[in-house]
Parts: sequence; C-alpha cells; structure tokens
Amino acid sequence: MDKLQIEGGIPLKGSIRISGAKNAALPILAGSLLSAGPVTISNSPHLHDVTTMIELLACLGVDVTLNENMQVEVAAKNLSSFRAPYELVKTMRASFLVLGPLLARFGEAEVSLPGGCAIGSRPVDQHLKGLEALGADISVTDGYVRARSNGRLVGCDVHMDLVTVGGTQNLMMAATLASGTTRLFNAACEPETVDLGNFLNALGAKVSGHGTSTIEIEGVDALHGGSHRVMPDRVEAGTYLVAAAVTGGHVHLRDVEPETLGAVLDKLQQAGAEVTVGDDWIALDMAGRRARAVDIETSPYPGFPTDMQAQFMTLNALAEGTATINENIFENRFMHVHEMKRLGADIELHGQSMAVVQGVKELRAAPVMATDLRASSSLVLAALAAVGTTTIDRIYHIDRGYETIEEKLGQMGAKVRRVS
Ligand code: EPZ
Repeated sequence: MDKLQIEGGIPLKGSIRISGAKNAALPILAGSLLSAGPVTISNSPHLHDVTTMIELLACLGVDVTLNENMQVEVAAKNLSSFRAPYELVKTMRASFLVLGPLLARFGEAEVSLPGGCAIGSRPVDQHLKGLEALGADISVTDGYVRARSNGRLVGCDVHMDLVTVGGTQNLMMAATLASGTTRLFNAACEPETVDLGNFLNALGAKVSGHGTSTIEIEGVDALHGGSHRVMPDRVEAGTYLVAAAVTGGHVHLRDVEPETLGAVLDKLQQAGAEVTVGDDWIALDMAGRRARAVDIETSPYPGFPTDMQAQFMTLNALAEGTATINENIFENRFMHVHEMKRLGADIELHGQSMAVVQGVKELRAAPVMATDLRASSSLVLAALAAVGTTTIDRIYHIDRGYETIEEKLGQMGAKVRRVS
C-alpha cells in the first residue's frame, strides 16, 4: 500500500496547472449514455474514479477509448447490459449516476445501491422519488435498484426535499429524453451541475436554469453526438491555495475558474492571504505570514463547499486564534480530526457536526492514515507545514481526487516522496 513521505516547513512557491474537475467528469461520462455518440470529452482528469467510471461504461457495452490527445471518446450505440454491479458501485458511488441515463434512453436499469461511505450514510431517496415522479417503476431488492419505464418517461414538476448534487444530476439527465417538460425545484447549483447541463445541451438537450435552484428540461426525442471540455477542478484549486496559505508561500494556479471559488477565496482573504485573480488564474501570496483563524459553515453552493472543510481545518489548526467549523452537509466528515490531533492539533469535537479549533504555532510530524478523499488532502496540507517528515498511509484515497499530487507539489518546491 503506497504512502506519501512529506518533509514539512517549506513555503510553497511556483505555478501549476489545475486539472479537469472530477465531480464534473463523472456525471458527464454517465451522461454520455444518453447519446449513440460519438461523444468526445476533453480535459477529463486521469484519476482512479474516472477510470472506474470508464470501466463501468465498458462493462455496459459502451465503446470507450482514449485518443491520442488524451480525450475520452464514447459511443453508447448498442449496450450489452443495463446492470451496474455492486463490485464497481461500492468502489465509486458516483456510478449511481448511470441510473437516470440508462432508464431514460433504454427504459430499464439495474444499479446497485451505493451504500454508505466513510463520510456518511448518503441515501439516494431523492433520486428514486424523482424518477418515480417521472413515471418509472422502481423496486429495491437484494441491494439493487431495479427501474423500468413503460415507454418514455413523462416530464413533470419535481420538488426535491433537500439539495442533492447527485440527485439533481440523475434527474436532469433522465428528463432530457422524457416527453414534455420537467422542472426541478430546490435543485443543486454547484458549478459541476452547470457543466453537466452545458454538456447535455451540446448533445442537443434543452436544459435551462442550471446554476439556479430551478432547472427546466424540455424533453427531446434523442440526443446526438458532440464534444465538451470538462471545467477546471475548483476543489483541487482550493486545496493548493490552502497549501500555500499554511506554508506561508506564494503560488499561481493556471486553468481555473475563480468565479467558482468565491466563498473559498473570501475565507482565504479573511485569513490574511493576498489573493489576486484573472480570467483563468488565481494567485495567492501569504508573504510568510501566519494565517488568522476563520469560522466555517459548510452549505450548498454558492455557500462554503463541504469538500473544502477538511482543508480549512488544517488552516485553522495552525492559525492565530480560535475557529468554529460546522459541517452541515455530511454527518461524519470529521474523520481527519483524530489523525490531525496526532500531529499536535488542538481540536475539540462537539457532537458530529461541530469542531472548535484552537490554532497552535506548529504541528509536529507523526505517522498518520488517510480515511477519505478530502480528509487525506488535509493531512497532506498539515504535513507540508509540520516540523519534520510525516508519512501518510492509505494514500489511495488521495489518488481518487488529486491528479499527480506529488508532481504538482514538487513543482511548487515541496519535498514529497511516494513510497510503497
Ligand atoms: C457530490 O456528492 C460530490 N461527489 C461530493 O464530493 C460532494 O461532497 C457532495 O456532492 C456535496 O457537495 C460527486 O460529485 C461525485 P449530495 P453527492 O447528494 O451527490 C444527502 C468529493 O470529495 N442526500 O449533494 O453524493 C446526503 O446524505 C465528494 O469529491 C439524501 O439525504 O452529494 C448528504 O448528506 C465527496 N438523499 C447531502 O444530501 C439523497 O437522495 C448531500 O449529498 C441524496 C443526498
């Protein structure tokens, strides 16, 4: 099992390119099932989760290839199966996003329930409620969701009980081929959902309002082929900005969309970072200063993203002052706290969703273990700032969401080694 060895105390300095967004590439790949193709997807990140999604499409009988420009070419002409097996879904819950497209285009789908994960139970009740409203017959047996539709799905108004990114995406995709118009109320506004809507429209869908809490989809008979460039990964970008903030460094990120990071940039400025932005770049200069503590409340977009909570826990662990962090999206997303305390962080948990962080002057290296994707990135940030060399175990979690992390950190002067 690979580990990362990180020598702490080096201020990050340099410029790197941000990869395509994992959380846009995954629903877009699932959405390619809606068209016979050819569909060309560029700027898809080379991550384990993306590979898993491509494997899933292939096991459904879809032609998926990587061309010489590293673009993913998909042609979902005739499928050999409509079943997404537990073996794949359990490793990557975004596999559940094939449910809506399979049902809409082929009238049937059998997808394993994704089950819970480290950060919470993560039910899919909103996905199923919405698909039933669109006319699907849904049964859940032996850990699988079996969905059928007699003829086309029928567009309607769907009021979602809570904001769910995956639920919004599954229903938006299913509605593209329904007869009539669907309106999703209380829909997720995340940029990745906007990117998915733009991708679907490139294939001839009629999606509008994506990025607001009411998305309207006018059903069409079929989608054609097309191409799309995946948006930049705002969470990868935010993570490297925090890396610069906790090491007192100065970094420049290329190929990013600053407007998708508003709440994060605001918090970094409150913490004392000097942030400048252009159309497709962000620069952060900490000029050797120690960060100031900043309170965090996670909420759906455009609020502060839950995927950046763990990273700001690290910033606060080293900041001047005391901060409160409230995790309002997932019920168990403080797994990084126990590991961070091994490095000397002063963090008090109050129940499952609130942490009070008292900043300390320094963290000290110790062996730690990654537990989930964003928790592992917060440990990398802590290791970059800690005194001594930290070894992080189970870093397969990191490889799920951060493309070539040791190369990118190395380009900014960090001393990071992957050891088996
Ligand atoms: C997406 O997960 C992201 N994953 C997550 O990123 C991200 O943290 C999350 O959205 C929130 O922004 C991908 O895009 C692949 P949700 P998703 O449905 O769609 C509850 C990362 O680190 N809920 O918006 O699964 C659910 O339990 C990952 O890159 C229901 O109750 O998130 C959770 O508490 C982690 N019923 C809350 O809603 C449902 O039917 C938000 O979940 C659906 C969700």
